[in-house]
Amino acid sequence: MCGVLGGDKAYEAVSEHLGVGHDETTEDGKFTLEHAECLAACDYAPVMTINYEFYDQVDADAAVDIVRRLQSGTSPLPSRGARLCTFKQIEMQLAGFQDDRPSTTGEGPAGTPTLAGVRLADSVGVSVPGYDPNTPIPAVRPKDPPPAPAKKNEKGAK
Ligand code: FES
Repeated sequence: MCGVLGGDKAYEAVSEHLGVGHDETTEDGKFTLEHAECLAACDYAPVMTINYEFYDQVDADAAVDIVRRLQSGTSPLPSRGARLCTFKQIEMQLAGFQDDRPSTTGEGPAGTPTLAGVRLADSVGVSVPGYDPNTPIPAVRPKDPPPAPAKKNEKGAK
């Protein structure tokens, strides 16, 4: 979807601005550009991510503007979800460490484009029992439940 809606133009503009191509890093070592086939966020296409945070519905000018703001030392606010973090912080998250920064999750219900399919299905009588699209996304990640007790071997093994 991103490609159809101009994502490739945004990628090309950023590539030209930074002077690097796919999987290449700028001479100063600050930016590595990656062309992604899909970021699983087609509802907000075209999207770009920086350290896995989303910038939605970007065109070429908006994408380059976001990069320019990073180059100037400011931290552009992602369109949703957590605030932009450093590469080290996101690497820690990906390694499975808890991220205790405030605002690491979004708040409120999912956005209108995300829920468009659910609402369309609902309008023709198709729905998932008990699902409420207005359910807010919790601001704090729920604690993992304790592990279930081990089951006894049903065959009576010792
Ligand atoms: S094609 Fe852009 S997120 Fe899927």
